[in-house]
Amino acid sequence: MAGDDKYPESTGRRRFVKGVVGSATLAGVGTAGAAGLKSATAPGSGGGGITTFKGVKNTGGPAPRGMPQIPIEIDEEGYLKGMFPEAEEKMINNKPVTVAEKEIAGLTYSPKWFQYCGVQTYKGVRPEADMDNYFRYKDSDKYDWQNEEAESGDKVHVDDFSDYEEWGNGIGESGLGKPAMVTWRSQDVPSSQTLTVQVIRSKNVEKMAEEDDWMKASTQKGFMAFLNKCTHFCCVPAYKGLAGAAKFNAEDASYCPCHQSTYDPYTIVEKDFLALPRTESE
Ligand code: FES
Repeated sequence: MAGDDKYPESTGRRRFVKGVVGSATLAGVGTAGAAGLKSATAPGSGGGGITTFKGVKNTGGPAPRGMPQIPIEIDEEGYLKGMFPEAEEKMINNKPVTVAEKEIAGLTYSPKWFQYCGVQTYKGVRPEADMDNYFRYKDSDKYDWQNEEAESGDKVHVDDFSDYEEWGNGIGESGLGKPAMVTWRSQDVPSSQTLTVQVIRSKNVEKMAEEDDWMKASTQKGFMAFLNKCTHFCCVPAYKGLAGAAKFNAEDASYCPCHQSTYDPYTIVEKDFLALPRTESE
């Protein structure tokens, strides 16, 4: 892609180790019935409460809502990061509270977007957790290209997706988008606290960014990312990662094998949900 020419050829970022993807066990809580819990999850008890987020649309199955997007940044060397707002202290209800919030295209983006399914206990969602925000390849049994071309722990680079316009793996239609399974804000934490993220580069994303302010602000060079945690019972879906998805007409969707929920990465919706309060100590 012409826009990638300024980035140096990637070297030394090739090799990979197979492994398994873990899942949390705690389901999210829908907005319905949330009002009674709101006071228990207000700022000051770890930054929960009713939260509006943008995410990939849930298109089928029992999942109650989409999976939250992570806005993308690309550094000057071509490595991908997920935006995470700067932590700052605010007085809320006369108490100092550390928050991380950023206005993006008229919406408040914060770690509350990710506080469901046990993720609210992860160090990576704490505003004060000092992490570099780079996406890194993780062990994956979903994508052969990762196994062959990258090593677990390598930072994700634009050049790794240079074939995104024609990429395919025999699942669904080729040329729709090239995916990777990565980690975010998860260095030096127990494996049970790993934030698993789906990154996709697609011409569809480029088009969406031309037509929508949020997508323009939250994606770069056709790259998008979202927390890969099913909002039903917290399994790990995959975009074009499971051949069995075809049985459910989900070969071109993000498909969750646990109970057949499907998500469309190329339809972004705005939803409310009840973010659970973070755990603030080890
Ligand atoms: S559909 Fe049940 S956990 Fe994903």
